[in-house]
Amino acid sequence: MTASLVVLISGSGSNLQAIIDAIASKQLNAEIKAVISNKENITGLERASKANIPTHVIEHQQFSSREAFDQSMIQIIDPLKPDLVILAGFMRILSDGFIDHFHHRLINIHPSLLPKYKGLNTHQHAIDNHDKIHGASVHYVSHELDSGPIVIQAEVPVHAEDTAETLAERVLYEEHNIYPLAIQMHIDGRITFDEQLKVDGQLLTKPLQWKDKQLLK
Ligand code: GRF
Repeated sequence: MTASLVVLISGSGSNLQAIIDAIASKQLNAEIKAVISNKENITGLERASKANIPTHVIEHQQFSSREAFDQSMIQIIDPLKPDLVILAGFMRILSDGFIDHFHHRLINIHPSLLPKYKGLNTHQHAIDNHDKIHGASVHYVSHELDSGPIVIQAEVPVHAEDTAETLAERVLYEEHNIYPLAIQMHIDGRITFDEQLKVDGQLLTKPLQWKDKQLLK
């Protein structure tokens, strides 16, 4: 059965594009029912329109509270009955009410090997700390920022001459590999939650790694 997705963005939307492309190439058995942005005039919205996906701009400045903004998103999302709500570069902290409403149906991609470097400027932190390896993580969203159960990570090398921009580019390339994969695993029902996250019924002692991708099939 084709799964329904809603994607939340705030910027360039290259992860959204990776999901659109994965659907087009039938790697992902899903339909994006709507893209919601908290900003207008961003590239991500153009990408959605080009793919004939309905878009909604809800500017957070128009709301008196975080909860009111989140509630207006819920009112758009709920009638679409998505199997998964996907944060793809959505730059707003979500209220506990929103997170609870989409419990186990809300997923995020973060540009670091979590639990390292939660929050912003992850690439610069990796460079400043002379890390040899950096990367990205796909995780379910919990109340604490960038802290929910991690499904899969991809590692990238940090080169001596890297700037935050060159490193970000290398990380993004891998983000575009792991996000559609994690989404398909969710859609296929391979991910379950008892007390902890399980994949194919097995407790994950550590996140899946993109470099072991032959094991993920
Ligand atoms: C990505 O690095 C993602 O991990 C982070 O924000 C960035 C969004 O990029 N959460 P894009 O808008 O998908 O191009």
